[in-house]
Amino acid sequence: ATARLTLDPGFRVGDLNRRLFGSFVEHMGRSVYTGIHEPGHPAADADGLRQDVMDLARELGVTLVRYPGGNFVSNYRWEDGVGPAADRPIRLDYAWRSIESNAFGLNEFMTWAGRTGVEPMMAVNLGTRGVAEAMDLLEYANHPGGTALSDLRRSHGVAEPHGIRLWCLGNEMDGPWQMGHKTAEEYGRLAAETARAMKRFDPTLQLVACGSSNAYIDTFASWEATVLEHTYEHVDMVSLHAYYQPVDGDVDSFLASGAEMDQMIGSVVATADHIGAKLRSKKKIKLSFDEWNVWYQSRFPGESALEWRTAPRLIEDVYDTVDAVVVGSLLITLLRHADRVDVACQAQLANIIAPIMTEPGGPAWRQTVFHPFALTARHARGTVLRVEPRSPVIETARYGEVPALWATATYDEESGDVAVFAVNRDRTSPLTVTLDLRPLPGLRVAGHVVLDGSGAAAAAVNTREEPDRVRPTAVDGTRTEDGRLTVELPPASWSMVRLV
Ligand code: AHR
Repeated sequence: ATARLTLDPGFRVGDLNRRLFGSFVEHMGRSVYTGIHEPGHPAADADGLRQDVMDLARELGVTLVRYPGGNFVSNYRWEDGVGPAADRPIRLDYAWRSIESNAFGLNEFMTWAGRTGVEPMMAVNLGTRGVAEAMDLLEYANHPGGTALSDLRRSHGVAEPHGIRLWCLGNEMDGPWQMGHKTAEEYGRLAAETARAMKRFDPTLQLVACGSSNAYIDTFASWEATVLEHTYEHVDMVSLHAYYQPVDGDVDSFLASGAEMDQMIGSVVATADHIGAKLRSKKKIKLSFDEWNVWYQSRFPGESALEWRTAPRLIEDVYDTVDAVVVGSLLITLLRHADRVDVACQAQLANIIAPIMTEPGGPAWRQTVFHPFALTARHARGTVLRVEPRSPVIETARYGEVPALWATATYDEESGDVAVFAVNRDRTSPLTVTLDLRPLPGLRVAGHVVLDGSGAAAAAVNTREEPDRVRPTAVDGTRTEDGRLTVELPPASWSMVRLV
């Protein structure tokens, strides 16, 4: 089969926002404890922060990390996690039926974020708490000093305010599983009042209202409409969450997950713009896709089946090559919407459905899904080009006909470099893609790397014993002729082609 696309700097989606390469650390399972934080580990620094994990997070290219939840935040008291370690209470976390030691909290996270070089995205609890506690956290975190809570922070050894700019107004408040779950009206009012108060403290804060927790929940789109009716002029973004897996073994549809993500983004943009039109507002609400990934949710028995334990092994999915191809395709979708999606967070960073795995006291390694993220974060630069592929279609049970080729490209005006990211969703045949480069003369191929999810490689995984079994391989299948580049994409594969 053949497909084609044109790379033309005259046709742009928008500037690539580096915040699209975000991740997520929740107090859940081993994401924090024995994930990023493990005092006594041979690779831990003086504060118990695992430097092997920090190194991998930097290599992954993560720019921003959302914290501390997730469902966890909806029953969290941030005060429990600050101050002398010996005084911190041990609590029950009702989100994940776990024991929370509170050995790690806001100030430890900010130390970790600073050392790792990532921007923090902080969530407030709007489940069991409200405006007052959000304001207390904001004063503690961001006020310089001279007030009760800012001086409390200083007494905890943090002289300078943290200056956290990006805040989530709760988490998945539409979900009945959420502690303090609310109707759209209830949440919309609470989010609006919390946002108004927070912007009184600092009008430059960027605030994210909760959208739907998935596109299948009954209230999808009507939830966003109601919440935005209340919050439109007070917030900057609305959140989206989505997890993908092969349902009943339907891998063809799974490989087309990017099409579902694409439609979800379109639906939320349409809903937000509808409210903007009703309100006669000049403002455009941006999107924060602050939880996305492959997650084999069907393997998770549910919270009610969990025992009260500290840092249990929860949803530690081991990803194969096809999962990595899907992760690459989801990143392509996010880039294709760089004009409206300002923030995105792969959920999560370590151990919990994560690119980075760790063993307590032992090594840290890269899962298969690490690779497409790291390469996209490293090489996608500058402007996202509006590529309009012409592609054969494949039939899927869940999404009907979808194009076999899913692609995007970035163009760095300063260096002139181009990076093309492409997925062949077809599991049965390779795809020959012709790229018309005539609007960008003089480019030569600097490399083509592939994650090939076809044949026996489909089910290959990386483990502690074999951490580098799956990694992208450099291939030499490109040809250039008359300003046209021809690239071979194996079945069920993700590719990156760099042109300099
Ligand atoms: O990332 C795991 C969980 O998925 C988060 O806590 C929650 O927000 C979502 O349902």
